[in-house]
Amino acid sequence: MQIPLYENTILAEEKQAIYDVVESGQMSFGSKCLAFEDRFATHLGAKNAVFVNSGSSANLLAFFALANPLVKLPDGQRRITPGSEVIVPAVTWSTTIWPIIQAGATPVLVDSDPRTLQMKSESVEAAISDKTVGICPVHVLGNSCDLDFLQDFASKNSLWLMEDTCESLGGKWESQFLGTFGVAGTYSFFFSHHITTIEGGMITTNNDEFAELLRTLRAHGWTRHLKNKDKVEKQHSDIDPRFLFINTGFNVRPTEINAAIGLIQIEKLGRFNERRVQIANTWNNEFSELIEAGEIIPNTPTTKASPVFFGYSAICKNTETRNKFKDTLDKAGIETRHIICGNMARQPAFKHFEHRVAGDLDGADTIMDRGIYWGANPGLSDEQVNYVTKTVKDFFN
Ligand SMILES: Cc1ncc(COP(=O)(O)O)c(C=O)c1O
Repeated sequence: MQIPLYENTILAEEKQAIYDVVESGQMSFGSKCLAFEDRFATHLGAKNAVFVNSGSSANLLAFFALANPLVKLPDGQRRITPGSEVIVPAVTWSTTIWPIIQAGATPVLVDSDPRTLQMKSESVEAAISDKTVGICPVHVLGNSCDLDFLQDFASKNSLWLMEDTCESLGGKWESQFLGTFGVAGTYSFFFSHHITTIEGGMITTNNDEFAELLRTLRAHGWTRHLKNKDKVEKQHSDIDPRFLFINTGFNVRPTEINAAIGLIQIEKLGRFNERRVQIANTWNNEFSELIEAGEIIPNTPTTKASPVFFGYSAICKNTETRNKFKDTLDKAGIETRHIICGNMARQPAFKHFEHRVAGDLDGADTIMDRGIYWGANPGLSDEQVNYVTKTVKDFFN
């Protein structure tokens, strides 16, 4: 039996939608992208959503917006300027951190808790300096950072929060969706994520001016697709409004094909996530003795989190056991991954770029050296779930 990390959810309905877009001849950014943005924002209860071509691009735009001279932040909050520091967990994906560096800030890496996989509040507290301008919480593998602490800490210290929610779309802290707590939240629709547009990403924000800035940065620095386009154009009536540039920018636009898929997938998000949770709960129950005996530590929900498990993760007693466990799962056809990039501070790229490590990263090392995860994707049948249960139990017994 094969248990893939993720399965194709682009089925008949999505294929028809792709076909229809191609037939229509309107394939570059247009009304479907705008409709998907509206639908996504409504679903999450955010005021604005800005669609881009990947989760990495979402982070890129968010941090460049936070460094832009035209950004307007609430009183007391500071934009990124050269030398500013941004606190970020060491356990994350690379493109959470690269855009912080690219935007001119110094990432300050903090430790994560092997039980929850999330950044430790006490490490965040210890990492602050007079150069800190913001925090980038990353909601790892479907769970959530402690948003009570982060909101309180950020507000007391006049810091912004930019939530990387690329691994936790649909997860909540109490009754509020992750990604909607700070100045912005970012999401990924890569093939293996909670919903997919093949490649794709989104940024949500409740700040209308921030959303306009993101829209400008998304496409060339021009005014096309701005909500207040007419007003801006009137201010520059001497320039052809079709080619009016008001800021710097990139081109990280998605296509109508991505949006057409997204419009169908967003309606399936709730059902997909329910199945993810059901699968993870099944394994938590089945492995309860292993968990109690300390053989494995599963991804444990943070106090007020309703997680949407990206995969099922386990921290083993030591690296040797993890490696043997991985070999056993591989041989049984169960696809595995280590827990995202592990402790990013150990990645060679950091030799070349300024960064700061705040305190020890023992938890991040544990996650890197002893952690593993496999798929909890909604396409798994009960038979496949039972097969994984048996393989895991056989290994530890
Ligand atoms: C935490 C996190 N941030 C950002 C990204 C980047 O998303 P994308 O692959 O869509 O560029 C990922 C990708 O998996 C991720 O896990």
